[in-house]
Amino acid sequence: MSAASLSGRRIVVSAGPTFEDIDPVRFIGNRSSGKMGFAIAEAAARRGAKVVLVAGPVSLATPADVERIDVRSARQMREAVIAALPADAYIGAAAVADYAPAVIAPGKIKKKDEQLTLELVRTPDILAEVAVHERRPTVVVGFAAETHDVEFYARGKLEKKRVDMIAANRVGVAGSGFESDDNALTVYWADGALALGPAPKTQLADQLLDLILTRWPA
Ligand code: CTP
Repeated sequence: MSAASLSGRRIVVSAGPTFEDIDPVRFIGNRSSGKMGFAIAEAAARRGAKVVLVAGPVSLATPADVERIDVRSARQMREAVIAALPADAYIGAAAVADYAPAVIAPGKIKKKDEQLTLELVRTPDILAEVAVHERRPTVVVGFAAETHDVEFYARGKLEKKRVDMIAANRVGVAGSGFESDDNALTVYWADGALALGPAPKTQLADQLLDLILTRWPA
């Protein structure tokens, strides 16, 4: 495992799911555990970077020497990430909800009719916004969960979101996925790609940081 120093670098990492409230007792969420993002934050801090970890609702301990900001919704995550700029790198490992309820009911929604329709609206795309921000970090890395045509969709996101790298989860590989301690990633950039793992998320975190280092001017 390489341990090239990240001393003097500031890295913002997002991790975990977002929860989009429906009413005071219900929300729309997803199964992201936050483990990949926390592993990246931990590895970067161990290698000397100043790390800001913007975390959705997860039950994970804060890694040593990491500044953690807890948020709940996509909107709150966006505020915290933008406020954490400028940075040398942004690594968007969070599974941000793409849609949230148009309104949060002030009181608990009571059951009435046979059917209930929830109106959902798009959330801000944090990754795409960071990538075109006036304080854009030198390196912007996104994640993608794809079940099929991984390279096609990952390269599409590279271009559409104007990011430098997309780390695509190889879904379906044994031992990979949300709750697992292991994962398998294929990282795509404009003129290259590299398959990492299957390996423990802690090990993948260091390999991903090594790749990011190659994108930095010395
Ligand atoms: N992302 C974000 N803000 C959002 C949605 C996603 O910052 N509102 C980021 C995630 O943190 C991740 C990447 O974008 O880095 C995932 O992109 P997305 O297009 O949402 O990919 P999928 O979840 O795979 O969704 P889809 O395939 O439906 O486009």
